[in-house]
Amino acid sequence: MTHKEPTLSISMKKVYVYKAFERFWHWSQAGLIIFLAFTGFEVHGSYKVLGFEHAARFHRVASWMLIGLIIFAIFWHVVTGEWRQYIPTTKKLAAQIRFYMIGMFRGEPHPTKKTGLQKLNPLQRITYLGFKLVLVPITVISGIIYMFHKIIDRNDIIVISSIPLKSVAFWHTLSAFLLIVFLLVHVYMTTTGRTPTSNIQAMITGYDLEEEEEEEPRENKSLTGES
Ligand code: HEM
Repeated sequence: MTHKEPTLSISMKKVYVYKAFERFWHWSQAGLIIFLAFTGFEVHGSYKVLGFEHAARFHRVASWMLIGLIIFAIFWHVVTGEWRQYIPTTKKLAAQIRFYMIGMFRGEPHPTKKTGLQKLNPLQRITYLGFKLVLVPITVISGIIYMFHKIIDRNDIIVISSIPLKSVAFWHTLSAFLLIVFLLVHVYMTTTGRTPTSNIQAMITGYDLEEEEEEEPRENKSLTGES
């Protein structure tokens, strides 16, 4: 008569986390923000690489591309319902605490496992929401005001906005600076995954590996009666 206890084995499961548009949008946005930072700080006078004229022209072209991308991204988030991924939730936080106190002793799954349906942990939700609803809008709106601050109307009269250009430039530069800080912290955080490059790979391929705990019932001939 053989009798062995069941054992826990950990296997890796491939999960589809980031959809094709999401990956395209993520990398295009990253590329455009880096390019806008590069050209913007040349306009600011921090260095001289392309020359002021070129830097300003490229900055404007890239900014229209970013605006176009943001419009597509908003549309995609609304249509697919993916915007819900960013709702900060205390419910999730309670589930997380409950998991550590009770759930894990019962072998329940981790509440913040990364899946296609739930790809962000509570901290990511709040950070990315702030990025999307505060930081990016301040940069884009101040940039648009900057762009149209001095325009010539149909009667050839120069229209100067009532907002002083100095404060527009201040808000735009401040938000640009914070975007760079965000970018640096964000890149660092991506290295804290399963392996230093696993999160970046997931954003390239769409797939991530997830730990899956399986209870493997060992052979128990006395109970099953198998020979
Ligand atoms: C849709 C988004 C954006 C728009 C519409 C925009 C627009 C502008 C405009 C019109 C200027 C003045 C230069 C010029 O006349 O061409 C400017 C300057 C600048 N932009 Fe942007 N921009 C955007 C995004 C960004 C981003 C993402 C960054 C950096 C992360 C950035 C960084 C800067 C900086 C540092 C300056 C120089 C500010 C100064 O010292 O006056 N911009 N931007």
